Amino acid sequence: MQTLRVDLGDRSYPITIGTGVLRQEFIAPYIKGKQVMLVTNDTVAPLYKESLLNALAGFQVDEVVLPDGEAYKDISHLNLIFDQLLAKRHNRTTTLIALGGGVVGDMTGFAAACYQRGVNFIQIPTTLLSQVDSSVGGKTGVNHPAGKNMIGAFHQPVAVVADTQVLNTLPDVELSAGIAEVIKYGLIYDDAFFYLARREYDGAASA
Ligand SMILES: NC(=O)c1ccc[n+]([C@@H]2O[C@H](COP(=O)([O-])OP(=O)(O)OC[C@H]3O[C@@H](n4cnc5c(N)ncnc54)[C@H](O)[C@@H]3O)[C@@H](O)[C@H]2O)c1
Repeated sequence: MQTLRVDLGDRSYPITIGTGVLRQEFIAPYIKGKQVMLVTNDTVAPLYKESLLNALAGFQVDEVVLPDGEAYKDISHLNLIFDQLLAKRHNRTTTLIALGGGVVGDMTGFAAACYQRGVNFIQIPTTLLSQVDSSVGGKTGVNHPAGKNMIGAFHQPVAVVADTQVLNTLPDVELSAGIAEVIKYGLIYDDAFFYLARREYDGAASA
C-alpha cells in the first residue's frame, strides 16, 4: 500500500493505492458529516457496492445506480444524482462517493461541484484508466450533444482510493486502454519508465 499526496495547499488530498484498500480507515476520515451519497453504475454495483457499504458502516448512505456507458454521461442522468440528494435531504456537509470508471467519476465530481454550490467528494476509481488518469486532477463534467465534456468544472476530490484488486474483473479491452495511457506517460516524461511499461505490456499480451 502506498499513499501519495497531491499538494494543492488547502485543497491537498491523498491518493491511497494498493490491494484491498477499499476499507474504512482509508475512506471514513475524509467524510465530513454523517451523510454520504454513493454513485455507481449497474455494472460496478453488483461487484463492489457491498464491500464499500461495509467500509461505510455508521454513516447515512444513500445511493444512485446509473446505467453503464458514456451515452449516459449527460445532464439528464446528472440530474438523477441531484434528485436523490434533494429527496434524501442531503445538506452541505454531505460527501459524494464515486465508485466506478471515468464516466461515474466525472459525473459524480461535477454533481459535487454543483450541489449546494459545492460539496466534498471521494473518488474510488475502478478502471485502470480512471486510477491513473481521470480520478486525479479535479476535471469533472458531462457531455453535450454538441461535444464531449463540454459542460463541467474543476473540483478536486478530498481523497482518492485506488484498489488494484478491482482490476481483476476489468474486461481486457479496458485494461489495455489504461495501459496505453501509462505507456503514454512514459513517452512524455520518462524513458526508463516507458521501456518498463512496454515490457510489462508485451509480457501480458503474449501470456
Ligand atoms: N476527468 C478527467 O481528467 C478524465 C481523463 C480521462 C478520461 N476521462 C473520462 O473518463 C471516461 C472513460 O473512463 P473509463 O475508461 O474508466 O470508462 P468507463 O467509466 O466507461 O468504464 C469502462 C467500462 O468498465 C466497466 N467497469 C468499471 N470498473 C470495472 C471493474 N472493476 N470491473 C468490471 N467492469 C468495470 C464500466 O462499467 C464500463 O462498462 C470518459 O468519459 C472520459 O471523458 C476523464
